[in-house]
Amino acid sequence: MVTCSAPGKVILFGEHAVVYGKPAIAVAVDRRLYCTVEKNNSDITEVNGYPINETHHGYILEAMKALGVEETLSIKTSSHLQSGAGLGSSAAVTIAALGALHGFMGETPSEELIARQGFDIECGVQGSASPIDTSTSTHGGAVILSNRKIKNFLWHIEKEGTFWNIHEGFVPNLNIVVGYTGVHAATPPLVGKVSNFYNRNTFARDIVDEIGEVVEAGRSALERGDLVQVGNLMDRNHKLLKILGVSHPKLDSLVKVSRKYSYGAKLTGAGGGGSMIAITDDPDKVSEAISKRGGIPFTFEPAETGFRYEKSFKYTQ
Ligand code: PMV
Repeated sequence: MVTCSAPGKVILFGEHAVVYGKPAIAVAVDRRLYCTVEKNNSDITEVNGYPINETHHGYILEAMKALGVEETLSIKTSSHLQSGAGLGSSAAVTIAALGALHGFMGETPSEELIARQGFDIECGVQGSASPIDTSTSTHGGAVILSNRKIKNFLWHIEKEGTFWNIHEGFVPNLNIVVGYTGVHAATPPLVGKVSNFYNRNTFARDIVDEIGEVVEAGRSALERGDLVQVGNLMDRNHKLLKILGVSHPKLDSLVKVSRKYSYGAKLTGAGGGGSMIAITDDPDKVSEAISKRGGIPFTFEPAETGFRYEKSFKYTQ
């Protein structure tokens, strides 16, 4: 029996534009998804007691196919990450399942292998993706994607002419409050919506370019510790994502109310619902404001480790 876990993440800057090779910055969050794999005595693979199927277990099924697993397995998952909340739960299940399956096969995979396989699986299941979620869930800490090679380079990923250099970033010392709208939003339709806009409209391509510039400026503001500038750039990033059509009235409302007590706020992840983030010196005030508007706030510590094997993990249900 092998158990592997992987963390979720928040994207500080650059979601959606990163799918087109623009830079992005994400931080892993200390909410993890756990996956246990063991041999099953029946003739079908089960996930949490149900026969594995593409609709509910697409990422796990693809992970089994990618590794050529032929045995029937009993797979269990347990998640501290809300799905459809922009917090990278799909990447976390993919990475934790890959880790557990490799472990079950007696292998010790490298981070780079897991990140590459995870990215391919996300692309296959979602239609298109960037490696930001899967690389952050694999490596942990802060991760920077850039089309240039900068310091602390980890690996390079390429797909159909688009490429990303993945780097370890320094984890900024920030109070980040996450506000979940309560609106479940699947990533693929939102990525598809932006793709239609991008392919038909030069204006959309200009917006994507501008997000790229905001991310670069955000990276240097984070390095300087200039929180006022980081906040301004987050506000700008949110406006640009809104123009791309991936915000939601509840996101806009939570972003607006958080800004009163924050350096800046923006949606995080795919949008369309899901979550927003704010950076602030007063997390309690921001959390209270989010709650009053009907959102679900939480704060988190960055997850220092990405995917890892768990010696003992107890499933509660
Ligand atoms: O909402 P999430 O956690 O699935 O994040 C998606 C991030 C996107 O940039 C919208 C897509 C991607 O693959 O980069």
